Amino acid sequence: MPPALHLSAILPFTLFFLLHVGPSTSTTIGITYSSPTAAANAAATTAPPPPDRIAATIRDLKIPAVRLPDPTPPAVRAFLYSNTSLLLSIPNVLVPSLAANRSAATAGFFRSSSTPPTRPSLAISVGNNVLESQPDAIDFILPAVRNINSALRDLGIHHISVSTTFSFISIMTGAFPPSSATFEEPVAEALIHPLLDFLKETNSSFMVNIYPYNLYRLRCETPLGFALFQKEPFMYRDDLTTGARYWNIFDMMVDSLVAAMAVAGHEDVPIIVTETGWPSSSLDRTEIDANEDYAQMYIRGLILHLRSGIGTPLRREGVAEAYVYELVDKELKPAGTAGQGAGRNWGILYPNLTRKYEYKFEFSCADRLGIFNSVLVGILLMIAILFWVLWYIPSYRD
Ligand SMILES: *[C@@H]1O[C@H](CO)[C@@H](O)[C@H](O)[C@H]1NC(C)=O
Ligand SMILES: *[C@@H]1O[C@H](CO)[C@@H](O)[C@H](O)[C@H]1NC(C)=O
Ligand SMILES: *[C@@H]1O[C@H](CO)[C@@H](O)[C@H](O)[C@H]1NC(C)=O
Ligand SMILES: *[C@@H]1O[C@H](CO)[C@@H](O)[C@H](O)[C@H]1NC(C)=O
Repeated sequence: MPPALHLSAILPFTLFFLLHVGPSTSTTIGITYSSPTAAANAAATTAPPPPDRIAATIRDLKIPAVRLPDPTPPAVRAFLYSNTSLLLSIPNVLVPSLAANRSAATAGFFRSSSTPPTRPSLAISVGNNVLESQPDAIDFILPAVRNINSALRDLGIHHISVSTTFSFISIMTGAFPPSSATFEEPVAEALIHPLLDFLKETNSSFMVNIYPYNLYRLRCETPLGFALFQKEPFMYRDDLTTGARYWNIFDMMVDSLVAAMAVAGHEDVPIIVTETGWPSSSLDRTEIDANEDYAQMYIRGLILHLRSGIGTPLRREGVAEAYVYELVDKELKPAGTAGQGAGRNWGILYPNLTRKYEYKFEFSCADRLGIFNSVLVGILLMIAILFWVLWYIPSYRD
C-alpha cells in the first residue's frame, strides 16, 4: 500500500477529530458591578471603594468584561479607557421617554465621552428586566431600542450594539423539557419576535438573566447538584423530542431560549447571559441553599463549563458572553422588596474587596495548552490506531 494512501485516509479523520473535539467556543465571562445605592452609602461603616479601585480589582482578577446595570458617570469613566469590555444598561425609568424622543439625549453622553473606536466591545441594554417593574412599558421597549440605535448611527458610531435585557422566568413558559419551551404571550408577539428581527438585522444579541437557583427553588424535586454543575452518574435529564441529554439546569435554560427563538425563526441570534449567580447568604433563614459553599460550587462550575467550549446540546457555540452576578455584596435589603437580590448577598467579594472563596476567571496559556495537549494526544493515538489497522491487520492476513 503506498504511504500517500494512508495520509489521505487519516486526514479526514484528523480534521473530523479537530472539529469535534477541539474547543469550539470562547464565551467571554464577565462580572456585574452595581454602584452602591445612597441607602447603602449611608448605612456603610466604611466608604464604598471608588470606581477606580473597582476597575483595578477587576483588572487584578483578570476579568475581561464588566456589566454596569446602573452606570454612573464616574464608573463609566473608570472603565471606558481600560481594556475591559463594557455592557451598560440604560435605567428603566428612561425607557418611555427614549421611545418617544428621537433626539435621544443619552446619545449626547456617548458623543461627549468620545469612545475610542479600538477599545474592546461596548454594548448597551435599554433597560434591565423592564417588564417586571413596568409591565405596561411593553410597547415602549422596542421603539426605545431603535431610537438609541439610530441616534448612535447618526453620530457615526457603529461599533456599539443595542439590545434590551429580559429575565428568563418572566418571558418563558418553562425549561423542562427545553424543546417544548416557548416565549410567553403576549410578550412574544408584541415584543420578542419583532425584537429578534431587529437584533438579527443589527448583529446584536439577545440578553437574558438566567438563575438556575430560582428554577431549583421552584422545583423541589430537582437535585441540588444538577443546579450546581456537579456532573454525577445518572444525574441528567433527557429531552425525548430532541434526544439531547442535559447535565445541568443552566444548559436547559439556554436551550429553552434557543428552542423558543427557533420557533420565532431566529435560532442563530447570539445569546448574552447578562446575570447569573448563586446567593452566598440570605436574610431569610429558610433559604438554606444560599451559602458560600454552594455559591463557590456554582461559580466554579459555571466558569469551568463555559470554558470547556462544549456549548449546549442545541447550540454548539454556547452563549456568547455570561456575566456573573455580582462583584461586591450589596447591602442586605429586607426580603420582599422588589428586584433580584432582595435580602440576599450575591457578591464574589466582600465589601472590603477580599475574596469570599477561590475561583479563577482568566483563561491562562496553561489551560489552553492543556486542552491543546489533550487534542494532540488524541490525534496521535488515533493515527497510531489507524496505522495499526492499515498496516498490521493486512500484513497479518498475508
Ligand atoms: C490594552 O491592551 C493593549 C494590548 O493588549 C496594551 O498595549 C495596552 O497597554 C492596554 N491598555 C490598558 C489601558 O491596559
Ligand atoms: C426630546 O429631547 C430633547 C433633548 O433632550 C428635548 O429638548 C425635547 O424637548 C424632547 N422632546 C420631547 C417631545 O420630549
Ligand atoms: C452584520 O455582520 C455581517 C457579517 O459580519 C456584516 O456583513 C453586516 O454588514 C453586519 N451588519 C451590521 C448592520 O452591522
Ligand atoms: C473583609 O471582610 C470579611 C467579611 O466581613 C472579613 O472576614 C475579612 O477579614 C476582611 N478582610 C480584610 C483584609 O479586612
